[in-house]
Amino acid sequence: MSYTALYRKFRPQSFEDVRGQEHIVTTLKNQLKADRIGHAYLFCGTRGTGKTTIAKIFAKAVNCENPQDGSPCGECAMCKAIAAGSSMNVIEIDAASNNGVENVRTIIEEVAYPPVEGRYKVYIMDEAHMLSEGARNALLKTLEEPPKYVIFILATTEVPRIPITIMSRCQRYDFKRISIETIAGRMRELTDIEGIQVEDKALTYVAKAADGSMRDGLSLLDQCVAFHFGELLTYEKVLEILGAVDTEVFSRLTRCILADDIIGGMALVEEIVMQGRDLSQFVTDYIWYLRNLMLLKASDAADMEELLNVSAEHLALLKEEAAQLEMNGILRYIDVFTELSGRLRFSGQ
Ligand SMILES: Nc1ncnc2c1ncn2[C@@H]1O[C@H](COP(=O)(O)OP(=O)(O)OP(=O)(O)O)[C@@H](O)[C@H]1O
Ligand SMILES: [Mg+2]
Ligand SMILES: [Zn+2]
Repeated sequence: MSYTALYRKFRPQSFEDVRGQEHIVTTLKNQLKADRIGHAYLFCGTRGTGKTTIAKIFAKAVNCENPQDGSPCGECAMCKAIAAGSSMNVIEIDAASNNGVENVRTIIEEVAYPPVEGRYKVYIMDEAHMLSEGARNALLKTLEEPPKYVIFILATTEVPRIPITIMSRCQRYDFKRISIETIAGRMRELTDIEGIQVEDKALTYVAKAADGSMRDGLSLLDQCVAFHFGELLTYEKVLEILGAVDTEVFSRLTRCILADDIIGGMALVEEIVMQGRDLSQFVTDYIWYLRNLMLLKASDAADMEELLNVSAEHLALLKEEAAQLEMNGILRYIDVFTELSGRLRFSGQ
């Protein structure tokens, strides 16, 4: 049996299957019902929260032959062609690799031709913040007054990099990070459909690691399922796959700091970089680890294992480290690493 990644197999095809972006779905459906559709939209927010998904459902809805209550029917020729990716009415552009003036000129030329079938040509432009200044300027006029059969949907994960000239010509929608409960709930739905056995606690842990992104959540879950295919996926197994390495590395780093072992610390950072890990993420995760040490020092509640989401084995390690640290020291480390995290955002080194 071949296995298709969950996040690819289950891209929502209708508004009803989208989880956690109620404010956006409701507004768009109301516009569709009232036939008051905008001509330019800006979808912004964290990766993997439904921007491309909703853009495609919207493209179906505006072209659908029998829309129901603002939703595409999913059955008509237009809906089917768009779902299959074969419709000429949905044009997906990756602005990261097509960011020049020439690319935009080609789009503008194409915009002049009405759709051969259906009502709207929908241009979905991903990574819109990557457009060069020239490309943006070339696009402005078309974006402001496109032909009435054209809709632009710009998507970006980095809204501060979208200039006001573009922003003011679009309706802006902010996609929210999706809550742990909502991600876990969607995972439960999909694992039930797929007949995958998994503990609730395991799903909650994966959902937490997803950090607000449904795609990250599903692909982390995929990793775990692939590792233990056909078995019950337990909390302990998930920890082993997703957490164990980190905790071990963090523990080493803490020990280096405690021992003033600069060489050891440098070697460890080198190792992380060589493994191709993202340093910003590493720092963020380490701050989380320090926070756990702090909690351990502050309390000796019996259910710490659950509270911190760590295995019994790691809890023992954590306790050992917590015992060697002063509360003030931990707070200071958190300060230092928080500042570092801010700096890393603007530097590659
Ligand atoms: N709100 C959601 N409800 C249900 N599934 C979702 C949602 N958001 C994302 N997903 C899942 O994650 C996958 C990727 O989502 P999508 O491509 O819409 O993300 P995106 O916001 O466009 O991300 P990026 O910024 O990386 O382009 C989808 O195929 C779907 O499986
Ligand atoms: Mg996308
Ligand atoms: Zn339809």
